[in-house]
Amino acid sequence: MKDSPELERWMRQALALAEQGRGAVEPNPLVGAVVLDAAGQFAGQGWHQRFGGPHAEVFALAAAGERARGGTLIVTLEPCCHHGKTPPCTGAILDAGIARVVAAMSDPFPQVAGGGLSQLRAAGVEVHVGLCEAEARQLNAPYLKLLHTGRPWVHAKWAMSLDGKIATHTGDSQWISGEAARRVVHQLRGRMDAILVGRGTVVADDPLLTARPAGPRVAARVVVSASGQLPDQCRLRQTARDAPVIVYTTHPERLAGWAADGAEIVAFSSHDWSVEAMLANFGQRRFTNVLVEGGAGLLGAIFDAGAVDEFHVFIAPKVLGGAAAPSPVGGSGRATLVEALMLERFQVQPVGEDVYLHGLARRRDAVSV
Ligand SMILES: NC(=O)c1ccc[n+]([C@@H]2O[C@H](COP(=O)([O-])OP(=O)(O)OC[C@H]3O[C@@H](n4cnc5c(N)ncnc54)[C@H](OP(=O)(O)O)[C@@H]3O)[C@@H](O)[C@H]2O)c1
Repeated sequence: MKDSPELERWMRQALALAEQGRGAVEPNPLVGAVVLDAAGQFAGQGWHQRFGGPHAEVFALAAAGERARGGTLIVTLEPCCHHGKTPPCTGAILDAGIARVVAAMSDPFPQVAGGGLSQLRAAGVEVHVGLCEAEARQLNAPYLKLLHTGRPWVHAKWAMSLDGKIATHTGDSQWISGEAARRVVHQLRGRMDAILVGRGTVVADDPLLTARPAGPRVAARVVVSASGQLPDQCRLRQTARDAPVIVYTTHPERLAGWAADGAEIVAFSSHDWSVEAMLANFGQRRFTNVLVEGGAGLLGAIFDAGAVDEFHVFIAPKVLGGAAAPSPVGGSGRATLVEALMLERFQVQPVGEDVYLHGLARRRDAVSV
């Protein structure tokens, strides 16, 4: 069965469909489905389109109608068998008279975890699991990480000059990258649960950190500042009632004005504070994807904590020079080249006048996603 190139082609179509839900379905998984009729002809397709909405199987079965009877459902994730925000998909599959289910992977979600597949088998449906499993795991890497570790998928983004500077030695940084690259960043922002900057970036750049135009979700704008010495006048504070602003600090007493203006202040004692504690707090909020936008101090702390999963780097064809001009990742860094964090699956793409380098952190200790 696994060798069937025809089924593999349909599974790839289901994976591509699932991708369309990115940013709209989290913390749910991305799921796509295709229905073939009893003769193996295409009968319908669908994908999970938004959190709380119908699942992919329901859309695909509805599109196929009576042609689903005796047919095959090809789906990127094990169908659910529990009453969540919607009724169980296993019921819809059995009602539709599907004879065979081909799933890319089982769903580790505790209320499913193989239960959907065994329910279908028990009802006499032929079930196959594992077609294009690696691709399906990659598709849902953030969902799987949150489920397995209670931590979000961490994206790091920066724009730098050809000589690896994120600002000039005088602190001028707007803009290193061009308009096309900044459009890509806004698209990224529009599918995040949180966007993080350190105090230095708030002071230097006074960023708004919103997605313009808006994307499928509105990210919380997070400022990390142990000292709590944030400016009284800045755009994040002024717009804290328009889109969430959260400050992580060990000095909440300095941020009463920010709280009064609508920001949420998350206080840690200096003893309990760590990047890891902040990520755990994100996990409790069920943040699936977070984007660290800098500067060097915060990116360094997150890098030193081994927390970056995915990189988005924009390289501008400009040379700034200057020994005092900052580079993207501060912190302690790695001592030797063998310890360097390597990227995998990276793609290099021209964006306007800049180059966009995108890749995943290769980790020996990675959870199996
Ligand atoms: N080109 C780009 O893509 C880009 C992007 C962003 C920023 N930048 C540039 O980067 C420069 C700012 O960089 P930066 O390194 O000075 O600023 P930063 O990383 O934005 O902020 C550093 C501050 O963040 C807080 N912080 C960072 N890590 C922390 C941790 N682990 N725990 C607690 N607090 C932590 C600290 O605040 P407290 O001191 O309050 O404790 C620290 O002083 C600016 O010139 C800006 O324009 C460039």
